[in-house]
Amino acid sequence: MKFAFSEISLPKRGSLAVPVYADNSFSPMTKEVDDLTGGVLSRALETSRFKGKKGDLLEILAPNGLDVSRVVLFGMGESEKIGQTDLEDLGGRLVQKLNSSGARNVTVILDGLGECAVKDSDAAAFVAFGAKLAAYRFTRYKTEDDPAAEPSLVRMTVACKTSAGARKTFIDLEAVAEGVFMTRDLVSEPANTLHPETFAERCKELTDLGVEVEILDEDKMRRLGMGALLGVGQGSVRESQMVIMRWNGASGKKSARKPIAFVGKGVCFDTGGISLKPGPGMEEMKWDMGGAGTVTGLMKALAGRKAKVNVVGVIGLVENMPDGNAQRPGDIVTAMSGTTIEILNTDAEGRLVLADALYYTQDRFEPEIMIDLATLTGAIIISLGHENAGLFSNDDALADKIYQAGTRVGEGVWRLPMSDKYAEQVKSPIADLQNIGTGGRGAGSIVAAEFLKKFVGDTPWAHIDIAGMAWSKKDTPTVPKGGTGYGVRLLDRFVRDNYEGK
Ligand code: BES
Ligand code: MN
Ligand code: ZN
Repeated sequence: MKFAFSEISLPKRGSLAVPVYADNSFSPMTKEVDDLTGGVLSRALETSRFKGKKGDLLEILAPNGLDVSRVVLFGMGESEKIGQTDLEDLGGRLVQKLNSSGARNVTVILDGLGECAVKDSDAAAFVAFGAKLAAYRFTRYKTEDDPAAEPSLVRMTVACKTSAGARKTFIDLEAVAEGVFMTRDLVSEPANTLHPETFAERCKELTDLGVEVEILDEDKMRRLGMGALLGVGQGSVRESQMVIMRWNGASGKKSARKPIAFVGKGVCFDTGGISLKPGPGMEEMKWDMGGAGTVTGLMKALAGRKAKVNVVGVIGLVENMPDGNAQRPGDIVTAMSGTTIEILNTDAEGRLVLADALYYTQDRFEPEIMIDLATLTGAIIISLGHENAGLFSNDDALADKIYQAGTRVGEGVWRLPMSDKYAEQVKSPIADLQNIGTGGRGAGSIVAAEFLKKFVGDTPWAHIDIAGMAWSKKDTPTVPKGGTGYGVRLLDRFVRDNYEGK
């Protein structure tokens, strides 16, 4: 789908979308359209439940007195209450509506914003951004066209007062969307085609954008002593990999600054290993690489918009399989840090992968801050469902920055506590650590975070448990079902607001 921005005027063809504010009050352009059609809009509203609320949509086909094939009225609510995510959702809803009714081109008129806190050019860009996010589809494996499911919409023009500004703002947003799409593509890809080595190949594509990509194979990781990560992958016929992606976008004095680091769990398939998972639903574990997918998409977004920051992304890629050579419950492995870990459940594998990835990242890069993302625990879905990711941190200021960024872009996080009491649970009687807690199912997500904390040294660090967020079974306005790309927008915002200066 293509996007354009124009000055405010009525289109000669295609579809037209115009705003209606709270209690069905018309914007100047909506009023003009109503007059041109001899009051069709007003009459349509009289017989409808449409009230001009956010999310309300009403389609009027072949209106008399206009050249366009349809007019879609969209509710905006009260203009002073409109924020970024409302505008994105509007873009997404329009795409869904127009695709289902077979429109090809649409002009969205954004006038009458009045008291809206988002400036005009940004507002238009956010509508287009939401539309772009909504228009994503994962079609690689569809060999037959289903005409009914084919999206009809090919072009959206957003008309606003300051279209040049909107066009400029949209350039960066489009780069972010491309990052989100890379994450969605990776997360939706099945594990027979996306295993550690093919995932690493996909990362290599980022070199085109100026990202330096380095791949550690099993030999290199063995020499580095990454026994925790390698133990997880040892039952798989696929080689484990670690990928290091670096984007050095800072200039001037800042270019010498330490990087900020993102680390991702990349379990390309999680059967549970010898502690085998139950069969039903196991197909979902193809997206157990969601953390690595987000880190990769984030690198694409940051490089794509040439972010003025030095960033390193590190992902640990493995496949967790049962096998004659697989790791057993009771095995003891030695992590790169030298810490010994008793494996009491081979299904608690994400923390083992991250143990080495986190330790390696802080040891090699001494980052200013380090954030990991992982589909780490089923327990976080019990705690927070699919509305917020779990946030854990050893640094209040860092946690707060992540929370603020999440609120702004509508990718929520909610912080859970950490303390030495929880950390007690991962002490092993015969090794330094054990990979599951002693407290049964209680506080499983926190105990997992305490385990990770053992490998971050004194680096300001945050862990985001995205098990409830990486995949969605239902469509929302800007996120079609499947891989969501959660975290790319959140961390792009986090970087922009805190590390790029003015
Ligand atoms: N990948 C899973 C967590 C998960 C579960 C993600 C459901 C998404 C949906 C993780 O490797 C795992 O198996 N965790 C165990 C930990 C337990 C053995 C301590 C869990 O959550 O049950
Ligand atoms: Mn597991
Ligand atoms: Zn897992």
